[in-house]
Amino acid sequence: MNILAIETSCDETAVSILNAGGNAEKTTYKILGDALYSQAKLHSEFGGVYPTLAKREHQKNLVPLTIESLKQASLFEQSSEEIMIYHNFFEGIRDVQFKEDIEAFLKTTKKPNVDYIAVTEGPGLEPALWAGVSFATVLGRAWNIPVVGINHMEGHIMSALVQKENDTLVLNKPALPLLSLLISGGHTELLLMKDWFQYELVGRTRDDAVGEAFDKVARLLNLPYPGGPEIDKHASKARESDSKHDIQLPRPMITDASCDFSFSGLKTAVLYLVRDMDTLTENDRQNIAMEFEDAVRDVLVTKTKRAIEKTNPRTFVVGGGVSANQYIRKNLEQMVDSHPDIQLLYPAKGLTGDNAIMIGIAAHMRHIHSALPKETDISATGSQSLA
Ligand code: KG4
Ligand code: ZN
Repeated sequence: MNILAIETSCDETAVSILNAGGNAEKTTYKILGDALYSQAKLHSEFGGVYPTLAKREHQKNLVPLTIESLKQASLFEQSSEEIMIYHNFFEGIRDVQFKEDIEAFLKTTKKPNVDYIAVTEGPGLEPALWAGVSFATVLGRAWNIPVVGINHMEGHIMSALVQKENDTLVLNKPALPLLSLLISGGHTELLLMKDWFQYELVGRTRDDAVGEAFDKVARLLNLPYPGGPEIDKHASKARESDSKHDIQLPRPMITDASCDFSFSGLKTAVLYLVRDMDTLTENDRQNIAMEFEDAVRDVLVTKTKRAIEKTNPRTFVVGGGVSANQYIRKNLEQMVDSHPDIQLLYPAKGLTGDNAIMIGIAAHMRHIHSALPKETDISATGSQSLA
């Protein structure tokens, strides 16, 4: 089965084509096409993502990326006969240029061999989500292919379940219950999957997401957006040089009995710290980055440990952009070492950040488990949650 997957929830526009096969025990994904454009550079001028700008960029890039992905998959064929295009295909699309681009694409392109179109419908920035959802909907209508809406966070969970084997991603059925720690720019949550696609919220942030805290602290240290990789690099340098410092940042809610998080106080503590300093040297930046990462590590490890004790999972997965952080990975790994009956899984390199492959995998897993959402239910929902 071929799945065309589209992701536009934040500042990455991605279109992938997966050839999915297998059964509930073991599924395989051949990545036939994978085209991704990151807008990070564009947004870095503003120190964060601007939703309307993100939407405009998605609208500009969706057609060229789809063509690129189809070409990679050898599924792009120009058509000499005009396909019928009806006005109502474009219902919901207001941007004239976007509509014209899609229309020109449809007029000259043959319907590809695709069984499903999967698109992120939430959570994320609503204008950005709309770009992907409306594009997928038009393609679905014109080509008469079912369109399914996928939750972005479910994509992050699925991205941790696959392992790379040569040019294929393999998903061996994990043992349930499965606990996931999702740490991204917009979310920080501990979610339990007791049965396939039956979620229970174990803990979540009460204010900022952990990735958001990384980005905001980086900004306070005059480091570019996205701040996570910058803080990561600076903290690593401090650790490598065995740097000593007397900076002390808080570990918010660490003694609280719940599995909830809070990161805004940590960011504010860095704000006060930097404000009270006359100058900010590279050495200061590295030390603050290290102490900040240690504080985040302490909170994530403590809360995850609590969640594991509370829920007794058989599998533990970490997903979302912050899961690229090797130091946090290593510390979570050490904690899980004391639970030999738990399998720990991370996304493969290239799958930690936002991508469309994970959206295609989630759609296929839902297909396998007869849990696909109704096509008619699709709509961009900024605050969509799994539990
Ligand atoms: O999942 P993601 O790509 O997008 C969202 O769904 O939000 O996550 C992006 C977040 C950003 O906040 C970015 O700074 C953070 O992931 N990030 C990192 C690292 N790489 C990306 N945070 C810490 N360490 C990293 N190495
Ligand atoms: Zn994400």
